[in-house]
Amino acid sequence: MSNTHASGTTEPARFRELLPSPGRTDVDLAQAYAYPADLARPWVRANMVTSVDGGAVGPSGRSRDLSSEPDRRVMGVLRGLCDVVVVGASTARHEGYKPVRPREVWSRLREGRPATPRIAVVSRSLDIDEELLTQAPEDARTIVFTVGDSPRARRSRVAEHADLVVVDEGSVRPEHILDALSERGLFRVLTEGGPHLLAEFVAAGLLDELCLTVSPHLLGAGSPRIVAEAPTTGPAEAHGSENTPVRPAHVLEAGGNLFTRYLRD
Ligand SMILES: NC(=O)c1ccc[n+]([C@@H]2O[C@H](COP(=O)([O-])OP(=O)(O)OC[C@H]3O[C@@H](n4cnc5c(N)ncnc54)[C@H](OP(=O)(O)O)[C@@H]3O)[C@@H](O)[C@H]2O)c1
Repeated sequence: MSNTHASGTTEPARFRELLPSPGRTDVDLAQAYAYPADLARPWVRANMVTSVDGGAVGPSGRSRDLSSEPDRRVMGVLRGLCDVVVVGASTARHEGYKPVRPREVWSRLREGRPATPRIAVVSRSLDIDEELLTQAPEDARTIVFTVGDSPRARRSRVAEHADLVVVDEGSVRPEHILDALSERGLFRVLTEGGPHLLAEFVAAGLLDELCLTVSPHLLGAGSPRIVAEAPTTGPAEAHGSENTPVRPAHVLEAGGNLFTRYLRD
């Protein structure tokens, strides 16, 4: 939703604050989403979008069915603020991830840092887009996390261009990811999912913050949630339903979308 003027020009939707200061319309997104200052460890923020009825994937098989101009603006600010975007390989494939392109509006946000955040992909199969490996700038090389038994030939190809981190276990755990990012001084972490990877961060108790856009759509029962685990057959308690309290840091509205930011209590 955007405002169309009598002249026919379209003005971008304005953000208004609902919480904590209802009615504010001069919202500075970079300030509203600033990472804590002086981080001494990685701070993990997730950015996800959901339909009003809890769906994470639209009829196209992508989340972009739920996105909008204001949602893309928030996503842009979050990418501008972070050091690294961590993503599951399935999301990278479905959503066509490429190296992040620099934006002029980020010059202030990224002062003293590379012009773009790095992309970090988590993958067992190492089925990763060639451009994502080969086209990233030298100071923002793509990082790839994989397991010891990933396909050997693909591993050498990835290592030629990207920063390859091989974990000698059957699964890359969130702790492995954060240790490696910490070693590289990448503390402002943004994960863009998908639902399987996000569930792993939640289960490990390592998600500090969730930025969740509630998009004005109903997707019905066929759409997965923003967190997904391997299929199980038992009731919720049998597969470890968790309860981690979070508190709202802000709620903004633009174009009918709600932009919520929750911090772990
Ligand atoms: N609504 C939203 O905000 C949102 C956000 C992101 C994505 N999505 C949607 O979600 C869907 C994709 O999400 P998804 O949950 O299926 O997948 P995902 O979490 O993006 O990626 C899963 C893949 O990541 C790799 N992986 C995850 N955990 C791993 C581990 N512990 N060790 C090694 N590799 C690991 C594996 O890659 P390999 O297969 O390469 O082995 C696995 O198949 C897409 O439809 C996308 O559009 C929605």
